[in-house]
Amino acid sequence: MGVLIAQDLEPYSPTLSVAAIRREAEILLRLCGVAERELSLLFTSDGRIAELNRTWRNKPGPTNVLAFPMADEDSQECEAMLGDVIISLDTAAREAAVDNITLHQRVTFLLIHGLVHLLGYDHERSDQELARMEAEEQRLLAALQREKRRGKMVRLAVNVDHMATLRQARGGVEPDPVQAAGICELAGAVGIVVHLREDRRHIQDRDVILLRQTVKTKLNLEMAASAEIIAIALKLLPDMVTLVPEKRQELTTEGGLNVAGQKKKLASVVAKMSKAGIPVSMFVDPDPRQILAAREIGATFVEIHTGRYCDAKTTADREHEFDLIAQAATTAFEAGLRVCAGHGLNYLNTGAVANLGTIEELSIGHAIMARAILVGLDQAVREMLALLG
Ligand code: PXP
Repeated sequence: MGVLIAQDLEPYSPTLSVAAIRREAEILLRLCGVAERELSLLFTSDGRIAELNRTWRNKPGPTNVLAFPMADEDSQECEAMLGDVIISLDTAAREAAVDNITLHQRVTFLLIHGLVHLLGYDHERSDQELARMEAEEQRLLAALQREKRRGKMVRLAVNVDHMATLRQARGGVEPDPVQAAGICELAGAVGIVVHLREDRRHIQDRDVILLRQTVKTKLNLEMAASAEIIAIALKLLPDMVTLVPEKRQELTTEGGLNVAGQKKKLASVVAKMSKAGIPVSMFVDPDPRQILAAREIGATFVEIHTGRYCDAKTTADREHEFDLIAQAATTAFEAGLRVCAGHGLNYLNTGAVANLGTIEELSIGHAIMARAILVGLDQAVREMLALLG
């Protein structure tokens, strides 16, 4: 039967795409096996939802979502209708800001919550019911993301640190990572990644300032959780930051961030970034404990470290490491995190990771820059994109 959507807000919320929510609601009805029934969805204000909350539930104040099932009625017309879900966009927007997610993501979750209520789940009945309901919500969220990702290409973000490494070898001005970023974007990359290291061994402050002004896609600033770099990020306002561990002696980032071991410190970085509207990714080993810790402290993304898979010397080791990445990506995806991966990926080992279906973006630097020296940067990026397709 479909989904009826109305807004009784004046003016309508400009930041919410009703078409995108309708598509999600239709997928959800299908996933719940009730595609033939009709769902009515109303977006409203805190004032209106507070009235409904008082009238129908005898509860004071606004709430985020209300669900009114039709099941009690016995006429045929009512049977065709599943019921009403009413969402306050005022409360949803506040909750989205606290969780550092978009309004759309919060509304999707509230829609799932309301829908699950319409199907008979009720978290207020008992702790057991609460656990059952939460499990069903997580299942639906993961299944919805999977459906939405079906057939979608994995995006490529190019790390241009090594253009800067080459420049720094002579201490001059060429090659320029800022120019390189433009070429990568023109070739089809949807993001530019740079790591502003505390020792400034490759990317310099001047680079990040110019990149902030010129990158048209998405600037992802990789950084240590150090006071100096946090202050720079908050001034620069990149489109996202990726927190990585950093050791002065290492050649490149060696392992994932120990999120579980420093939750308090990292949660405070997430809070600062959230306040500035910057989503946070955490670069973690393919370890469910680290992934769940990242979710717990409010990360939006995790980037799964693919280094051990890429460096494996034997087929058995490579397969083992690949399985760990696949499992970790599934854990992150099902936990509602957005999933990226990177480190050591090249033209031979990237295809398998890109095919997992749970990873939306790969961050690749060294292999593309190395090939660019031989075939040109534009071609090197296009060849990698062809592997992702
Ligand atoms: N992701 C992170 C977090 C990194 O630190 C790096 C290396 O700078 C990369 C991805 C890219 O790795 P590579 O240069 O090996 O492609």
